[in-house]
Amino acid sequence: MMDVGLESLSFYTPHYYFDLKELAKHRGVDKDKYYRGIGQEKMGMTPPDEDVVTMAANAAHHALERVDKSKIDTVIFGTETGIDQSKSAAIYVHSLVGLPSHCRSFEIKQACSGATAGLQLAQAYVAMNPDRKVLVLAADVARYDLESPGEATQGAGAVAMVVSAEPRILKLHPESGAYTEDVMDFWRPNYRDEAVVDGKYSIKVYLNALAESWKQYSAQTGRRFRDFERFVYHLPFTRMAEKAHLHLAKLADSTLSVEELKHQLQDTLYYSRITGNAYTASMYVGLAGLLDLCRDDLSGREIGLFSYGSGCMGTFFSGQVCAGYRSHLDTARHERMIKNRTALDYESYLDFFNFQLPRDGSALETAHHKTGLYRLSGIDGHKRLYEKVESLVEAETPAAAQASA
Ligand code: CAA
Repeated sequence: MMDVGLESLSFYTPHYYFDLKELAKHRGVDKDKYYRGIGQEKMGMTPPDEDVVTMAANAAHHALERVDKSKIDTVIFGTETGIDQSKSAAIYVHSLVGLPSHCRSFEIKQACSGATAGLQLAQAYVAMNPDRKVLVLAADVARYDLESPGEATQGAGAVAMVVSAEPRILKLHPESGAYTEDVMDFWRPNYRDEAVVDGKYSIKVYLNALAESWKQYSAQTGRRFRDFERFVYHLPFTRMAEKAHLHLAKLADSTLSVEELKHQLQDTLYYSRITGNAYTASMYVGLAGLLDLCRDDLSGREIGLFSYGSGCMGTFFSGQVCAGYRSHLDTARHERMIKNRTALDYESYLDFFNFQLPRDGSALETAHHKTGLYRLSGIDGHKRLYEKVESLVEAETPAAAQASA
């Protein structure tokens, strides 16, 4: 059978973050509740001139750098931070990164699993049309009410992946286990900017969806827990993945020690711990972390992935890392982007959180903050305006970024 999978994978997170030890001070809780209890240290925060479109366009720009763009005829954008009830965010990105006009561009929503649904559609499409390539985007801003338990699990980020019949990073296996159940663990009615969540219940439902997806996947494929070198989970917060991995190991009668199980996960958690939940993108941020940071050569190794979207839908699928994958990664840029970030103080965190574009059709030009190559320059007559700029986030060295600040 023909190989189909990821030809490229790039991750983007905004230049700004808020440290959870600062949040802990202002919420009167022990910082270790966040740092150790939920396993999060920093949350990525979008400035007023960034949104899911600019984040996804930044990730896409880099994911497309070494790809023949003329072969892309489909752009699929998974997000639950939609900027419009009608026009898809995919069209804005299609335009910003200069893709061919003969292209279908659309958005998919099912909480945090939209991008996985997109990836699976892309996989099937490329299997039928091996000369075509699909750009799959995932971008979200995780927002909860201030002073709610969810507040510490906010974050922001985007991932862009090119799916093609020339995978250079990960070959995707065709099988997957899927599970759907109608539950109210986490949702966001159209009239709210912040999610509503039943936190403890959401953890239970996540674990159940994992067990059910895995059961179907392993019955279908005959693959066992021990066949996988590493596992990547949806990452609302990193402790969730640790809980999930122990749950799966127990279900699958694994004989690995707790230390060995932790080792299978640790590289997938690093980016997420310091950027926060990125909903649709978060599992793929974990995948980027694994491939960027794992010291062992993973060529030829099997990776298990569990994607979870509240409401709920679980998907367990898998892939095999391509030989020579390291030379196709975006590791150095990811590292620079993370190193160059700026910490927000509490007042600036609130300013960023509370910023809103006008909703009455009036015009506003957004103030310039540090962004990547694309920014939201404003709004006028209910139309969002985007522009390409020089990236301050991805300057070659932290010193260069500071000099231009
Ligand atoms: N030192 C070390 N650990 C501490 C501590 C301290 N001082 N204080 C508390 N802890 C530990 C607790 O023991 C607990 O650990 P366990 O889970 O292992 O028992 C952990 O820190 C968290 O403490 P609480 O359970 O008291 O925390 P909480 O109720 O205030 O909030 C939360 C936790 C429910 C996850 C909340 O952050 C939340 O609602 N988050 C959003 C929902 C979410 O992310 N759900 C995940 C599944 S749904 C999903 O995956 C989709 C998605 O993206 C949202």
